[in-house]
Amino acid sequence: SRTESFLRAPGTQLRIWAHRGNSSAAPENTAASDEAARRAGAEWIENDVRTTKDGVPVVMHDETVDRTTDGTGPIQSLTAAEVAELDAGSWFAPAFAGQRVRTLGAQLDGLKTRGGNLLLEIKGEHARSSVVRIVQEIQVHRMNGRVFVQSFEPQHLRWVRELAPELPLGLLRFALDPDPVAIAIAKDLELTSYNPSDAALQTRPGIIPELHAAGVAVNVWTVDDPNRWDALERAGVDGVITNCPAELAGWNAGR
Ligand code: G3P
Ligand code: CA
Repeated sequence: SRTESFLRAPGTQLRIWAHRGNSSAAPENTAASDEAARRAGAEWIENDVRTTKDGVPVVMHDETVDRTTDGTGPIQSLTAAEVAELDAGSWFAPAFAGQRVRTLGAQLDGLKTRGGNLLLEIKGEHARSSVVRIVQEIQVHRMNGRVFVQSFEPQHLRWVRELAPELPLGLLRFALDPDPVAIAIAKDLELTSYNPSDAALQTRPGIIPELHAAGVAVNVWTVDDPNRWDALERAGVDGVITNCPAELAGWNAGR
């Protein structure tokens, strides 16, 4: 829930966020990558949500379906029925043929049945009505503290905050906001977490204690290199969004 602290206590392990599921082991953002993330011991699965032509939230990273399915075109030009026909696994490996692009509703059903928590990125551009639909889907599923929402767009987070005061929020950043703007944004949006790229964080690691002092966790993406896990742990980050959750779990276990 929003009152849960995502700050890492000294001496405890880095939180593992499985980026697009366990996307080094299975096709990203599918049920197979969720399953691989669970097997890896990741408690949190990161997925991206976009909206179809007919307004249905679906789990998909790219603006078009070309890279990760056997279809073509912008996801916003396809209906949910058309998207449901696509194969989202064969591009990764033949063994994953038949994996589907899931609706957000189906993804939440899967989490309730099989376990796991969701870090949901509201990806790309969304009208308020689209964010309303996404939040309603989370709320009707009564996820009770098992969904965390992130976005690069402060406006998306502002809408989520209005609609769902119970949801923890993270702001994604390609580049760090200058001080004291970062802290001001975090307070304004009532952020639980500030989520910079690793490259951005390396420009100013001093932002970590500043955010912590404001009660805001720092979760960094997308880091697959054990040397960086070492450095980030020493720098005090709270968690790592990684394509390699099994490897990070092993690294954590060896500390
Ligand atoms: O969770 C952070 C990361 O997902 C942001 O980048 O492109 O992988 O969605 P991207
Ligand atoms: Ca993402």
